[in-house]
Amino acid sequence: MEKEKEDVLILAIESSCDETAAAVVRNGREVLSNVISSQIALHTQFGGVVPEIASRKHIEKINQVITQALDDAGVTLDDITAVGVTYGPGLVGALLVGVAEAKAIAYAAKKPLVGVHHIEGHVSANYIEHPDLEPPFVCLIVSGGHTHLVIVKDYGEFEIIGRTRDDAAGEAFDKVARAVGLGYPGGPKIDKAAKEGNPHAMEFPRAKVEGAPYDFSFSGLKSAVLNYINRAKMTGEEICVPDLVASFQNAVVEALVSRAVMAAKEYGYEKLAIAGGVASNSALRAAMQEACEREGIHFYHPSPIFCTDNAVMIGAAAYYEYLKGTRHGWDLNAVPNLKLGER
Ligand code: KG4
Ligand code: ZN
Repeated sequence: MEKEKEDVLILAIESSCDETAAAVVRNGREVLSNVISSQIALHTQFGGVVPEIASRKHIEKINQVITQALDDAGVTLDDITAVGVTYGPGLVGALLVGVAEAKAIAYAAKKPLVGVHHIEGHVSANYIEHPDLEPPFVCLIVSGGHTHLVIVKDYGEFEIIGRTRDDAAGEAFDKVARAVGLGYPGGPKIDKAAKEGNPHAMEFPRAKVEGAPYDFSFSGLKSAVLNYINRAKMTGEEICVPDLVASFQNAVVEALVSRAVMAAKEYGYEKLAIAGGVASNSALRAAMQEACEREGIHFYHPSPIFCTDNAVMIGAAAYYEYLKGTRHGWDLNAVPNLKLGER
């Protein structure tokens, strides 16, 4: 690896949920390595992430994942400028593994430590493949635990204009998938099954939150789907799973796209990005692309591999935090409910 003197190389670590990930990122935008050890297969048998099992697996994997990230990038710890790590939000035991590891490496290698907000990481995934993208822009963040509509005012600076009142979008996907027997994680399974279904086969409710036009609510939709399934079971009616999940997905996509596009228009931004695991949903990406084209808005989205949890996005976010002077001490702790914009 050729390293220019002024290059900033971040060794990034992510362990907030069920992926143990490490990456080396140059100057916030260039991926030198991207290693992800997914625990999905392990948690599938339980129908969701088991926090205790996740923590243990992170401990088992983290050293080899980091070693591989450095090797793949062709660098040693000496070449690294700073160590970036997700310190919240997420599962506390899972986060702690990454935070403890990052502190140990940064201390031993005498490098600065930069703690990163997981959601700031998701947003920053957009910088990797879009060298032209700079704040300000509107971003829809849709993951397993979060549904936020934000204005990215500057790197790492957010104004939250909408959020979910109940379930996160990814959570709704996971719960509906489980109810129809598609298994965990629900999002990708529904995405695939919905391709064979008719999105207009069933009419599910699109909830609006009174007085909060940018807020989301998915629990009513989820209940309507569950009621539909129960009713069908009681009457012995056969359920067409592709039609059901396509109709559910269509309702979620409509809610997300309409609010995100309305926000870009009404707040006067020409750039709209999406982030988080659900941002890899093919129907959401297609609908967003179409709506943005219609409205003359430039649409940005990371490749699917950078939408779901990874450490490259943490390296991108850590770079901009590093430039701003963010440094954390050896007392950095995991903060499971860290709020966006908090340091
Ligand atoms: O961002 P992420 O990997 O982890 C969190 O920070 O939560 O998001 C995981 C969520 C899960 O709920 C998963 O079902 C959902 O993202 N997801 C999807 C798709 N891929 C992952 N949802 C819809 N369509 C997909 N293709
Ligand atoms: Zn995530």
